Amino acid sequence: MSLLEVRGLSKRFGGVQAVADLSFTVDEGDVVALIGPNGAGKTTAFACVAGFLAPDAGEVRFRGRALRGLAPHAVNALGIARTFQIMRPFPRLSVVRNVMIATLGRHPDPREAEARARAVLDEVGLAARAAVPAGALTLAERKRLELARALGTEPALLLLDEVMSGLTETETERIVGLVGAINRRGIAILLIEHVMRAVMSLARRIVVLDHGERIAEGTPAEVAGDPRVIEAYLGEEHAGAAAP
Ligand SMILES: Nc1ncnc2c1ncn2[C@@H]1O[C@H](COP(=O)(O)OP(=O)(O)O)[C@@H](O)[C@H]1O
Ligand SMILES: [Mg+2]
Repeated sequence: MSLLEVRGLSKRFGGVQAVADLSFTVDEGDVVALIGPNGAGKTTAFACVAGFLAPDAGEVRFRGRALRGLAPHAVNALGIARTFQIMRPFPRLSVVRNVMIATLGRHPDPREAEARARAVLDEVGLAARAAVPAGALTLAERKRLELARALGTEPALLLLDEVMSGLTETETERIVGLVGAINRRGIAILLIEHVMRAVMSLARRIVVLDHGERIAEGTPAEVAGDPRVIEAYLGEEHAGAAAP
């Protein structure tokens, strides 16, 4: 049994079929990347998995259990945490307080919640910034805080929505290392990412979306050589290179 099973997932917004009959699985301890052009439906698929949106059709199962109708906090309590592409930390609260909002769910004792929050900040490399208001963090630090808030809920499956976008190469490499380390301690990862080097080095399998549909799936090597993928996605770069 897969850890996460998405089957026939569909979601429409007015005239836009954002996700169309999408199926994929994530195994225990796996790293799966969801890639595709802007507007392909990746974030919508995440929102359906994590309980932020109700799908029009299809099913999401986590450890065999159907998630239909569960609110985000209930999905989170089962062991799925997500980061947000548009980050919304509480800017006036300190970094450690922001993470405590996440750790209090599993550790109602505030001292225990704070200890857990500090451990997570240590893991993501933000321990030295614990007392700073979240609003004062740099972009790279906010990405780490977003990771810390998700990790603070002690998930078995972590959904990462473009945690590397806008970072420098060095910062990206560090986040790749961090995500790899998180995975090695047993947390499965479903990753939306445009930074292809990061996808290729982290993912064991890649699912490619275009116009809400899965157009390819495979290992990084298989997907990189798939003509449909090159046309729909990687093709943008190739087309640019071929232009006169
Ligand atoms: N809340 C919403 N209301 C209306 N349209 C939406 C909403 N969220 C996403 N969409 C549309 O659904 C499509 C998929 O969006 P999204 O899932 O954000 O794609 P991606 O994350 O792959 O860039 C896009 O056409 C987008 O404009
Ligand atoms: Mg998105």
